[in-house]
Amino acid sequence: MDALPDGGEHDVEVEMTHVTADIIFRTIFSVPMEGVDARRIFEAFARFQAVAPRLLLPSIYGLRWLVWPWDAWRSRQAAREIRGLLEALIRPRFDAHQAGEPARAADILQSFMEATDPQHGGGFSFDELVDQVAMLFLAGHETSASALTWACHLLANAPEVQERAHAEVVQQLGERLPELSDMKAMNLTRNVFRETLRLFPPVGFMARQASSACTLRKKAVRQGATVVVAPWLIQRHHDLWQEPDAFNPDRYDNDASRESLRQAYLPFGMGPRVCMGAAFALQEATLILACLLRRYRLSAVIGHEPQPVGRLTIRSANGVRLQLHRRGETS
Ligand code: HEM
Repeated sequence: MDALPDGGEHDVEVEMTHVTADIIFRTIFSVPMEGVDARRIFEAFARFQAVAPRLLLPSIYGLRWLVWPWDAWRSRQAAREIRGLLEALIRPRFDAHQAGEPARAADILQSFMEATDPQHGGGFSFDELVDQVAMLFLAGHETSASALTWACHLLANAPEVQERAHAEVVQQLGERLPELSDMKAMNLTRNVFRETLRLFPPVGFMARQASSACTLRKKAVRQGATVVVAPWLIQRHHDLWQEPDAFNPDRYDNDASRESLRQAYLPFGMGPRVCMGAAFALQEATLILACLLRRYRLSAVIGHEPQPVGRLTIRSANGVRLQLHRRGETS
């Protein structure tokens, strides 16, 4: 971002996606996402995501015949390319592990290779390993990228909150880079992210299948029916939140919000399939926001109003363009 002209207009979605993809890539493989192949994986995921919503919705509603053959073909092509590229990265590590060589790194790939099934004691096959890695790469960056992009939008439109968060970060960090131990002291920055997840939950809705017939809000639900749970609606519901449409990060320090948070805040889902990366996401996002807030002042572009759309995650149909003003070294 430093390469951009000071005060220039920029769509931050690109950087937010790149930084979170790079972080999860390093976490899985212990290498930065700089090589040519990594870029191809990234681009193939982008192509997959462009068609995914048009495949996902008909599948959820049991209307697979509505899927265009062209979309199905494009998603399969992208998926095949992703698998091929991931296989090339995983193969040498897998073969070394199978040959009993010592671990090359303490990363997620290593944990996956060492994992054993509690019932039959076996490990993942090569194909299963590729599935796990592909799933984690996608789950581990797309959601965080969406939320960070919306956080920038909200901060740009709330200069008072942004200045307070900037002051918090400067006071805590001075000139040094943030570390995990700084998390506690950057309460407002963390709350900015939590409030972003309420207003723009990256997973806007989740589908579940009823395991038995039941009644939900006076409606009969038959066994096997699809039930959609929508954080997008619940987290902005007027009966469940005070001033639901306002961006107010301070509500997380406020006793009055305790019940709303307990009952109606589920950006990471709930129950047995709750997001297993929630703590990871909260940490990475707070640290990224701290770096951004210290270095730049974000301001809204007059006349540009991002239009939320439900893609794989909640994204903006017309991008999220902001003005980036570089701050002085210690300002
Ligand atoms: C702001 C960021 C994130 C949000 C809002 C988010 C949200 C969610 C939600 C709502 C689910 C449940 C989906 C469902 O029930 O159908 C989920 C599942 C999952 N998430 Fe996240 N996620 C985020 C970041 C991450 C990260 C960084 C990782 C990995 C490091 C991750 C890994 C996973 C995995 C593996 C699952 C599947 C868990 C299971 O089914 O057992 N997520 N996430």
